[in-house]
Amino acid sequence: MDDARPVDTAVIGAGYVGLTVGACLADLGHRVACVEKDRLKLAALRAGRVPFHEPGLPELVRAAREHGLLSLTDDLAAAAARAPLVFVAVGTPTRGDGTADLSALQDVVEDLSPVATPQHVVVVKSTVPVGTAEWVQGVMAHAGASVAANPEFLREGSAVADFLHPARVVIGTLHDGAARLLASVYRPMQCPILVTDPRTAEMIKYASNAFLATKISFINEVAAICERLGADAAVVAQGMGADPRIGPHFLRAGVGFGGSCLPKDLRALVACARVHDVRPLLLEAVQDVNEATRQRFIDTVESALGGLRGRTLAILGLTFKGGTSDLRESPALDIALRLLDGGAVIRAFDPQVGEEITGHLPQAIRCTDAYDAGEGSDAILLLSDCPEFLHLDWRRIASRVRGRLIIDGRGLPVREVATRAGFVYLGRGDRLPVSVP
Ligand code: UDX
Repeated sequence: MDDARPVDTAVIGAGYVGLTVGACLADLGHRVACVEKDRLKLAALRAGRVPFHEPGLPELVRAAREHGLLSLTDDLAAAAARAPLVFVAVGTPTRGDGTADLSALQDVVEDLSPVATPQHVVVVKSTVPVGTAEWVQGVMAHAGASVAANPEFLREGSAVADFLHPARVVIGTLHDGAARLLASVYRPMQCPILVTDPRTAEMIKYASNAFLATKISFINEVAAICERLGADAAVVAQGMGADPRIGPHFLRAGVGFGGSCLPKDLRALVACARVHDVRPLLLEAVQDVNEATRQRFIDTVESALGGLRGRTLAILGLTFKGGTSDLRESPALDIALRLLDGGAVIRAFDPQVGEEITGHLPQAIRCTDAYDAGEGSDAILLLSDCPEFLHLDWRRIASRVRGRLIIDGRGLPVREVATRAGFVYLGRGDRLPVSVP
């Protein structure tokens, strides 16, 4: 296969992974058909709207469509029949027992099977249990198609940049032709390309997310200890992170990890280990610390205010992290629900989430901005690291609140400015204040 040649490509599933893969490949000159079976999502995309917040993606989709390199369809068989390279990027949500639900992937493989040929390379991008690509290979064997596991490492909010400038690409396949084709597609990214067997590739994805989760739970546990000892957890992280063996990333103490990937992939790895008679002691502890971290934040609020019942709390940020509109497994949302359960009145605002707030938190008061949320509140809780919160006018908020207390669950760099505006600022790792103005 010629390195420079554009490849006709189909991407099945136009969520934030599939659409990013499709739009970026089109940007690199390949002709891509994105297949989406959700009619509402497809209609939105065709009308030029990306139905989730992903910076840079709408512009990339628009440009690729204008250049005739990106089409949007619900006809999987027709798209795949025309494309020798097929990426599968459908969701693999958690089932009740923690294992990954592969039904969407199974449906896709069933639809692909009749149109597959020896020229086809089917690439599993979805995060799937070890052994899944082998199963797909078994289904495709009759057609002579090749299969590869090619996990994604895209963060929501920076998915486009992560795709175009990856730290590494992992290709798991037993077929030289598939490895060569995928390597040629990724070559412009100029990053290390690791070619291995499918099982190892699938495990690299789970192990990577499990390790990121481990770093977060580690620093959250250190922060809990710092809180008792009067040490500054953020500076501890800085001091540790300067050691190249440790590294500075994913050491921000906060309210714990959430989102559509880390908790789900950790659960799936734990479940898979148990099925194979391995007790995943460390990974279980990572989950326990994550849960304890949320509760510790609630305990801090309760102690600082002398109880929750009847207290008015302004919650700023509900998404699982800043820069997204995604509420899946959001620690902020979970904390808000528990505070409501404890009898608090919640005034909530998130710059990326509108009416959806009411669906998730029917008892909360949805506010139009941070100033509105602060109105009459006993404390401001920062629960998502939204970039918008770095530019708030804290004096304006101070003039509307009842108690000048900020409890920051995200370590935003607002301590100084908020303190100047008259607030008591409580960060992760700080001791409780004596009195709140
Ligand atoms: C993650 C992985 O990073 C990505 O490689 C994978 O493919 C998909 O899952 P994402 O879910 O977008 O990406 O979120 P990420 O940026 O990894 O953050 C996950 C959670 O950890 C968030 O709730 C975030 O707020 C939290 N976090 C992250 C911390 O609490 N502290 C940190 O230092 C870093």
